[in-house]
Amino acid sequence: MITGGASGIGRALGVELAARGCEVVLADRQVELAELAAASIRDAGGKALAVELDVRDRAAFRRVAEEAKARAGRIDFLFNNAGIGVGAEIERCDPEDWDEVVDVNLRGVIHGVEAVYPLMVAQRSGHIVNTASMAGLVPEAGEAGYTATKHAVVGLTKALRVEARRHGVRASALCPGAIRTPILTGGRFGRIRLAGVSAERVAALWERTRPMAPDAFAQQALDAVLRDEPFIVVPRWWKSLWYLDRLSPSLSLRLWEVLFRRALIDLQG
Ligand SMILES: NC(=O)c1ccc[n+]([C@@H]2O[C@H](COP(=O)([O-])OP(=O)(O)OC[C@H]3O[C@@H](n4cnc5c(N)ncnc54)[C@H](O)[C@@H]3O)[C@@H](O)[C@H]2O)c1
Repeated sequence: MITGGASGIGRALGVELAARGCEVVLADRQVELAELAAASIRDAGGKALAVELDVRDRAAFRRVAEEAKARAGRIDFLFNNAGIGVGAEIERCDPEDWDEVVDVNLRGVIHGVEAVYPLMVAQRSGHIVNTASMAGLVPEAGEAGYTATKHAVVGLTKALRVEARRHGVRASALCPGAIRTPILTGGRFGRIRLAGVSAERVAALWERTRPMAPDAFAQQALDAVLRDEPFIVVPRWWKSLWYLDRLSPSLSLRLWEVLFRRALIDLQG
């Protein structure tokens, strides 16, 4: 079961899981897009179903999880992947910016754990993969709400992993670097509102980090899931930023301050 399965990383995970023999449920707020993704998986000989789900709706998440379990007999993987980007300096964030990013990126993941973890505990197997981000490991500025939710997702996943082991259930935090998907400029439900900055300029800045294609990302990420890695950082080179943050948090803060200032200068021209 993959939330945010209609687009980007979620869609690519669905394609790759189906190619590896899984029956996949693509759950997304954009149900027509999820339907297209599921149809292309079925056309390639895989098993896929699209369902409408807003991860902010706790009861709906439970319903979708119970239907998936009834259909397939068990849920082997939950990819809590749906997310939105909200890019804005803190002084420019509206109450809605904070609420939406917390509701989707954090509460949405909590709702997934609430709905699926008990089913996995009962079946004594399963793997919950929560999509955090490099922003869950290092102080990415210019998107503080996003960074806060992703740090929270990493924390939740650490605790879940420790608790879940005695039930035979696994948990991992997926921490993508930059992957070429719509979220880099906010995504369908997110937004970039940095002062005087266009979406095109933001996209051009991300291009400098050489974003990875979602299908290549999905293959590497799934290999790491099967190895039961607790923290999955792809592309791998982003790990150096995480290592630096653990080695010297204060040096890492200085580095991110420099990167943020440079990014603002480049973005504002
Ligand atoms: N692309 C990157 O560089 C990158 C980097 C780090 C982390 N991530 C994370 O990866 C995940 C997937 O993002 P993506 O890059 O594929 O972006 P994307 O915009 O292509 O896909 C996000 C999907 O989530 C869905 N979604 C949004 N709000 C939802 C809601 N309330 N309920 C259900 N579905 C909802 C969207 O409809 C969309 O299909 C996100 O959690 C994102 O934060 C992405």
